[in-house]
Amino acid sequence: MSVIEKIPTGIKGFDEIIEGGLPRPGITYIIGHPGTGKTTLALQILYNRALQGEKGMYVSLTEKKESVIMRYKNFPAFKKLEEFINEKKLMLFEAIPTYGLSKDMVISLIDDAFNIAQENGVKNIIFDTVTSLTMYLKRDEVRTILSYINDKIYSQKIMGIMIAELPLYSEVVNPPNEEFMCDVLIVMDYVWIYAGAPKLDVRLIPVKSRVSRVDRRSYIAVISPETGIEVIGTIETEHFTPFRQG
Ligand SMILES: Nc1ncnc2c1ncn2[C@@H]1O[C@H](COP(=O)(O)OP(=O)(O)OP(=O)(O)O)[C@@H](O)[C@H]1O
Ligand SMILES: [Mg+2]
Repeated sequence: MSVIEKIPTGIKGFDEIIEGGLPRPGITYIIGHPGTGKTTLALQILYNRALQGEKGMYVSLTEKKESVIMRYKNFPAFKKLEEFINEKKLMLFEAIPTYGLSKDMVISLIDDAFNIAQENGVKNIIFDTVTSLTMYLKRDEVRTILSYINDKIYSQKIMGIMIAELPLYSEVVNPPNEEFMCDVLIVMDYVWIYAGAPKLDVRLIPVKSRVSRVDRRSYIAVISPETGIEVIGTIETEHFTPFRQG
């Protein structure tokens, strides 16, 4: 029997709320509204692990890899990003679907990514977003694909971070399978905060974990170029969720 390690993420304020780190082998889903910092959180975990000498792979399914590099390379929090990419400590695998993907195409894409990961000794992998892979499939196929990815993650003893899209104005993930197919589930959504005037804050909730206790409180996540993403105190102000699906 192999053991499940808890891998510290190095994200300020985050390791504390997940009792030390994310599982490896294991599957973490980050499900969230657009622009809440899902990519920054996942990529910064990959980067921090690269600082610890672990190889990582970022599978980019919604954004050109050049655009990801452009965005983060001037952040002091990511100052070795280009160096790590050049040295193949961080590998970027771009596969943006331009037409609908069939189940067989999705499987071959997953095989390619995990074969490269295995050849290169990758310990940590991100799929950003897994929604982009599964949105063209039938409902029963989605779960098959998620299981297929999960099998690869466990058999290659990888820390997998899967990002899933939660559409604006919605509280419902589509297709609605991801939350049951993971060990850790983090939700990042918007809430209205009243601080003199109403404003939207990013709320981060550790919703579920099969490896730790989680308190399911609402935390605030903030992004700055200097520190990248960090999780600061809990939301104490009165708030409500503005987005409801009719
Ligand atoms: N230079 C910057 N300084 C501070 N904050 C920034 C900067 N650039 C981006 N951000 C913040 O980062 C957010 C985007 O982060 P990120 O791309 O990680 O979100 P995401 O959830 O992955 O978005 P998407 O749904 O578009 O993929 C922006 O909404 C903004 O709040
Ligand atoms: Mg993103």
